[in-house]
Amino acid sequence: MNTPTAQQSNNAVEMRDIVKRFPGVVANDHVTFLARRGEIHALLGENGAGKSTLMNVLSGLYTPEEGDIFINGEKVVFHSPRDAIAAGVGMVHQHFRLVPTLTVIENVILGLDEPRFRLSLEKARAKIQALSEQYGLKIDPDAYIWQLSVGEQQRVEIIKALYRGAQILILDEPTAVLTPQETEELFKTLRSMAEKGHTIIFISHKLDEVMAIADRVTVLRQGKVVATVDIDEVTKEKLAEMMVGRPVIFRIEKPAIEPGEEVLRVEDLHVLNDKGLPALKGVSFVVRAHEIVGVAGVSGNGQTELAEALYGLRPIEKGRIRLYGKDMTQASTQDIIRQGVAHIPEDRHKEGSVGNMSLSENLIMKNYRQPPMARGPLIDWRYVRNFARNLIQRFNIIAPGIQTKARLLSGGNLQKLILARELSSEPGLIIAMHPTQGLDVGATESVRKQLIAEREKGAGILLISEDLDEVMQLSDRILVIYEGEIMGETPADRADRNEIGLMMAGERVANQHTS
Ligand SMILES: Nc1ncnc2c1ncn2[C@@H]1O[C@H](COP(=O)(O)OP(=O)(O)O)[C@@H](O)[C@H]1O
Ligand SMILES: [Mg+2]
Repeated sequence: MNTPTAQQSNNAVEMRDIVKRFPGVVANDHVTFLARRGEIHALLGENGAGKSTLMNVLSGLYTPEEGDIFINGEKVVFHSPRDAIAAGVGMVHQHFRLVPTLTVIENVILGLDEPRFRLSLEKARAKIQALSEQYGLKIDPDAYIWQLSVGEQQRVEIIKALYRGAQILILDEPTAVLTPQETEELFKTLRSMAEKGHTIIFISHKLDEVMAIADRVTVLRQGKVVATVDIDEVTKEKLAEMMVGRPVIFRIEKPAIEPGEEVLRVEDLHVLNDKGLPALKGVSFVVRAHEIVGVAGVSGNGQTELAEALYGLRPIEKGRIRLYGKDMTQASTQDIIRQGVAHIPEDRHKEGSVGNMSLSENLIMKNYRQPPMARGPLIDWRYVRNFARNLIQRFNIIAPGIQTKARLLSGGNLQKLILARELSSEPGLIIAMHPTQGLDVGATESVRKQLIAEREKGAGILLISEDLDEVMQLSDRILVIYEGEIMGETPADRADRNEIGLMMAGERVANQHTS
């Protein structure tokens, strides 16, 4: 193969035949990836497709086993992120790498090789301010990182890369932590950077986003490149198919149903977080039968604590929880389960399943003490085997058999297993926390359908999710949580994305609690 020289090439980035293996998996399998100067290039793929790995190779964090990298037509070999930065490649990782107790300026200049006597805070401040204006990255250079919102911290990471002269900027799933408005601002910044000749590589698994921001998109599936295409030449449906490997249906039918009796009533709930600080500050709402109530919000605003409090896993400082009118404020998890509450937890490995137990054991975990699972003190294993086989079939769990250990399941199948167990008890209330997070499109579709089916059967569902599209699509009513308070409530069919975004950022818009 002849490689273009610097003069011929208009590719700022060329990665050719990159192979990167981890024990038991080929994360990048002969990947060729080209990105031009001045373009926003999306790297799209499902969880585990190899996106982060490929960009960690480009940013010098990983050394590939095979393949070559060219920057502006010149072959490079990176031994560390420092080498990559020297070649003009900067990366904003999914988890930021800032020091909370230092200021913005200190973080930006941290680790630079400039000799001490030349390191002037004044000069750094001026340069940061210039970058901030040039690219619309609003930031106070003297603020401490711990004082900043997640969106602001992201801006610091971007400034840090630009400060080091990044011509090629990689952002790994940058919108996951942003409100819709912050996302729009980030997109403006990225566009202005591209106009100034930067190459932006934007990692995402969200199709709408990629359609909105990218000039071109490279799709990865199971470590391999499916294709690189111009965004004008594809549709969302086409991209989804490339990503998943089969056609995908986006619309979920949700029949209109009148809500029934009140299932859950939360009044003035106050709960502390793990640090002993207020996590919920007077939360009140109601969930009825046949109703999905969505809780939207940027993560870390009290959602985890809310789910735990409702499931009896976190002490309640003040306020009341009622199930079917019955006071359950101080009830144990066992009592709450007995009242017909199902819980789809945030962490499906740690809370939702026991890795070293079999599928059937995981499936009966909640009700093996009662008939028909048990006859007296004994478990009826024949019943259990049939029960487990039925659920595995009904929920389409792909596994060798009912004796397979849960830890051997993929994320999607593990989530289906948890759903199968939780829904098999015919719950009256389902607390679902990020039920589709990290799942591929197929598994996501199946989980959403199950929740809609439960709503039809009469369950009340509290859907806590960071995915605003999911909340808007599935919910009947939407609550927005911010710093432990409900900022407002809106019926889903009249929900305004913009308004919800403002509430997610802490603005009270329509505070009309249901009574
Ligand atoms: N540090 C690592 N050690 C072992 N396996 C890894 C590591 N990083 C990623 N993998 C594996 O490589 C594959 C690709 O992962 P990743 O690049 O993170 O995908 P994506 O960013 O597209 O979600 C996955 O199967 C993942 O489990
Ligand atoms: Mg990733």
